[in-house]
Amino acid sequence: MRHDHLITSKQLSRADIETVLDHAAAIDADPSIVAGRHADELLGLLFFEPSTRTKMSFEAAMKRLGGDVVDMGSVESSSVKKGESLADTVRVIEGYADALVLRHPKQGAAAMASEYVDVPLLNAGDGAGHHPTQTMLDLYTIRENAGLDDLTIGIMGDLKYGRTVHSLAYALSNFDVRQHFISPESLQLPREVVYDLHQRQDHAGIREHESVDAVLSSLDVLYVTRIQRERFPDENEYQQVAGEYQIDLETLDTARDDLTVMHPLPRVDEIAPEVDDTEYAAYFEQAHNGVPVRMALLDLLLTGETDE
Ligand code: NCD
Repeated sequence: MRHDHLITSKQLSRADIETVLDHAAAIDADPSIVAGRHADELLGLLFFEPSTRTKMSFEAAMKRLGGDVVDMGSVESSSVKKGESLADTVRVIEGYADALVLRHPKQGAAAMASEYVDVPLLNAGDGAGHHPTQTMLDLYTIRENAGLDDLTIGIMGDLKYGRTVHSLAYALSNFDVRQHFISPESLQLPREVVYDLHQRQDHAGIREHESVDAVLSSLDVLYVTRIQRERFPDENEYQQVAGEYQIDLETLDTARDDLTVMHPLPRVDEIAPEVDDTEYAAYFEQAHNGVPVRMALLDLLLTGETDE
């Protein structure tokens, strides 16, 4: 892997992905292989949008590597409130830290910010754009549960505004994966993503559906997402689709016994709590995988050992 910044999963080859996943698996098996490796190094956290898992798992990962974090804190308490530009903010904070993690409500923010800094910058979500570190832990979880080749996956929910979906779909197109996209018509994948996927996917291809019923029994993995209420330009539009596409034990009646159900979390009501205690549920394991996977990513980017 040879990258200075991690902005979108479009930039990652199959070899890049395997390097990160293999390193994460080695760390998961024996965290002592990287303990203390980044002592005295600091990770700058710039979260302009709410976050629990992403921010805390980055913080846990950096601390488990022996380093620490410096956190901009909430937008309300930062100089952003005084009108500081993102370009200025990242240029200042790169002087305090060895790498930066940025989450921002505007699509394209991470790509723009990365042009102003020399330290590695990791995109932790840019509006409805991309979320490549989430994708890495999603791929790790898929590989552990179902393998990444000859895979049939259903990706369901808000495919229009869901950045985890955009990143995951691009990354999966490096593998022999059949991708079924399931959503109401108004929340379909952006057309440019569909077009790109058709160009990239030399293997099994992609399909779009309005209901999960027709494909459920063929799926190895069902990846469910939240309707991204905060990204709807119009609350009425949200109300029309809210509550659609819910998974419960009845919906899963025709699923294979070894189906893996995933969700990037937070969930609202997309997966009924009754699914949590079944063999299908992998979403809490998926969230826990955020730590070894982000340890692997930070270790590779901070040591510059990102060449294959
Ligand atoms: C996702 C996000 O922020 O895009 N959450 C996460 O990072 N695990 C998904 C979401 O907010 O629905």
